Amino acid sequence: MAGFTLCFGGLLLLMFLFLWASKAEGYGPRLFNVMNYGAVADGQRDNSQALLRAWRDGCEWDGKAEVLIPYGTYMSDPVEFSGPCRGPINFVIRGILKAPTHNSKIFTTKWISFQYIDQLTITGGGTLDGQGASSWGFNDCNTNSNCPTLPTSLVLDFVTNSRVHHLTSLNSKNTHISIFASNNFNVSHVRISAPDDSPNTDGIKIGTSHRIRVSRSVIETGDDCIAMLSGSTKIHISKVYCGPGHGISIGSLGRSQGERDVKGIIVKNSTFSRTTNGVRIKTWASPASMKASNFIFQDIVMKDVFNPITIDQHYCPHGNCNPQISSNVQISNVLYKNIVGTSSSMVAVSLVCSQSKPCNNVVLDNINLVHTGKEAAISSCYHVNGLSYGHQNPVSCI
Ligand SMILES: *[C@@H]1O[C@H](CO)[C@@H](O)[C@H](O)[C@H]1NC(C)=O
Ligand SMILES: *[C@@H]1O[C@H](CO)[C@@H](O)[C@H](O)[C@H]1NC(C)=O
Repeated sequence: MAGFTLCFGGLLLLMFLFLWASKAEGYGPRLFNVMNYGAVADGQRDNSQALLRAWRDGCEWDGKAEVLIPYGTYMSDPVEFSGPCRGPINFVIRGILKAPTHNSKIFTTKWISFQYIDQLTITGGGTLDGQGASSWGFNDCNTNSNCPTLPTSLVLDFVTNSRVHHLTSLNSKNTHISIFASNNFNVSHVRISAPDDSPNTDGIKIGTSHRIRVSRSVIETGDDCIAMLSGSTKIHISKVYCGPGHGISIGSLGRSQGERDVKGIIVKNSTFSRTTNGVRIKTWASPASMKASNFIFQDIVMKDVFNPITIDQHYCPHGNCNPQISSNVQISNVLYKNIVGTSSSMVAVSLVCSQSKPCNNVVLDNINLVHTGKEAAISSCYHVNGLSYGHQNPVSCI
């Protein structure tokens, strides 16, 4: 009997050890620390080759992999992390990655880029420092259509079922984060920061992508906090704090032929502070035809926003458009619900639609926007079909 008990106890112990070992081996990700690939955290030497080698091994690992950039400051030239990988992969940035500032290295399209990857998680609480101050002086895109190309800090192309969370993007040279041709991608707890006068520093730019979520993030930058372009569908934005910046924009759309429809966008439970726009839809005064439909802007607080609610179908930032041509983008089904706060301009609601394609079914429901100046706030409509109900301040023009 005693022998049996001992035997049984031993068996239990063995089983326990086996389970423990299999958990450690089989379930946790296999670690690929860039320090084991020659990375140096001196903030000076380029680490791109170490990062790429760690990525290659992680990506080829037949199971869950984790590429780790530990605490410290690492310089890196532009790097392209490509899949497909053999298993899910975490890219954990605990430290600070710094972009190059030398003239020979700044005229590129991307800095840190990921492409053709399924089940990617980028996290770690670290920072991508684009060191944009070194390049903003070269940006003359407002006056020069042939202006130099500057890199987006974090590029995600053809990435599916993936996430970015707990990451900071600081002083990008151009856009901070771009998401293109991606599906089921969540961004949360991200902090984006650049000065309000930094040129073209869009926070998050989305195009040709579906089921993208952005939540619980703070975006303060020099251009749009979030911009959704051609082919964006099923986008859900919530709990975003935007400001300073140019607001959350759908568009600009319809500049050239072949742009894809944009539909199913929800912006909810968000705050705009001292931005030039709040929620904006902008389309070019151009003959390119497309549809932009099914948008909900709801539970939004505006603090000192210059254009809190705006549709602009005569978008022409460089002033060189033909005034005879009106936008060929059909906007329909737009709901603005529970939008409250202050407008720093008198026109708190400006809905300027296209003469040839008037907006359809635009609904204002419970709007309370107070002008911070002496005059009462007003609303202004051109070519808008729709209705308004609930409280309306300013008085609705629909
Ligand atoms: C993104 O978030 C939604 C809602 O929380 C969730 O259903 C979905 O699985 C998430 N996707 C990923 C890739 O984490
Ligand atoms: C967002 O929702 C939370 C929880 O419901 C609420 O406490 C917060 O005030 C909301 N923020 C805005 C801007 O509506």
